[in-house]
This record gives sequence, C-alpha cells and structure tokens, in this order.
Amino acid sequence: MPARVDGQDLAIWRAASGQTHVWGDRCPHRGMRLSRGFVRGETLACIYHGWQYGNDGGCTQIPAHPNLVPPKTICATTYACAEYSGVIWVALQTTTQVCRSFPGQAAVRSLAIKASAEKVMEYFSGADTGVVCVGGTNDIALALQPIDATHCTAHALASVSADRKEVSRWLESQRRSIELDLA
Ligand code: FES
Repeated sequence: MPARVDGQDLAIWRAASGQTHVWGDRCPHRGMRLSRGFVRGETLACIYHGWQYGNDGGCTQIPAHPNLVPPKTICATTYACAEYSGVIWVALQTTTQVCRSFPGQAAVRSLAIKASAEKVMEYFSGADTGVVCVGGTNDIALALQPIDATHCTAHALASVSADRKEVSRWLESQRRSIELDLA
C-alpha cells in the first residue's frame, strides 16, 4: 500500500509471516515505486525488473542475474514501525518514537480530511500528540496522519462493542464540520 506521512512517500507491506514493514517508496534500482510491487513470502519484489528485497531492506535477488549475490549496498530505505489495534505507526526520524496502543479498541475506518493534522487537533482541542481521544459512548480515538500542509487522514478507533456504522457516520459529520470551519 502506498502512504504519505509529512510529505514523504512510503510503501507499507505485510510479509507472509504477518510482519509489517514501512519503507521509502522508491526502488534502489531505477526508482520505481515499491508500493506497486508484490509480496513474495518474506520479500517485496519490485514490479519493474523484479528485484527482491528482504526483511532488512537488502536486495536478495536480481532475476536477470540469478547467480549473482547482490551487494549489501543495494538496500531499500526502511523505517521502524509497529502495529497496534489495526493501526500501523512509523517512526520517520527515530527508532525510539513512542507508539500508542488502544486497549479494548479496534480500528473502524480511515477518512481523508482537507485540513492539516494541526487544524484537526485544534478543532478537537487535542494535545499535540497526533492522537485525539474524543470519548463519548463509543469511546472514540482518532490517530491523525499528517499528509501535507493542507491534508491529513484520520484513523478512527472505537471500543470493540461500538456500532461501527454509527462511528463511521459520526466521523463523516466531523469531517464536514472541520472542512466547513476552514472554508
Ligand atoms: S526499478 Fe525496481 S527492479 Fe528495476
């Protein structure tokens, strides 16, 4: 899956073992987007010339040269990531960035909003952590993914017993209000 965080293009993929990876969305060979590639067991294969990259981002196979052991310098850009309650977190700057867990909550849906993550935080009077805990009967939390200066994506989580359709409609109504606020 392609994704963008703080203007940076990323490729998110899940290996056959279930492990998630977040890499820069650029093949070290000729720059094709790795998010267009396909998963082969524990490797990600680029769609252009089929070069394969393993768990650590290192190239493991070059189909045009099947007997060649690829040099270690051929490596995709990898980032530390973690997955909690159906939300994948990535640390672009550091490997010690704190990730949030959401005990008793599950991911409901993601929605693109035409407003910066900061504006959405302001709208909900949230602290500057990228997560807004909205509360209420459905005990909703929004994890905000900054896309660029004028866009973000809100990933909604709610208690596992919540009515998912109700949460989804609520999120859509909040988006309308936020975008109208900024119009
Ligand atoms: S551009 Fe990716 S394998 Fe050639």
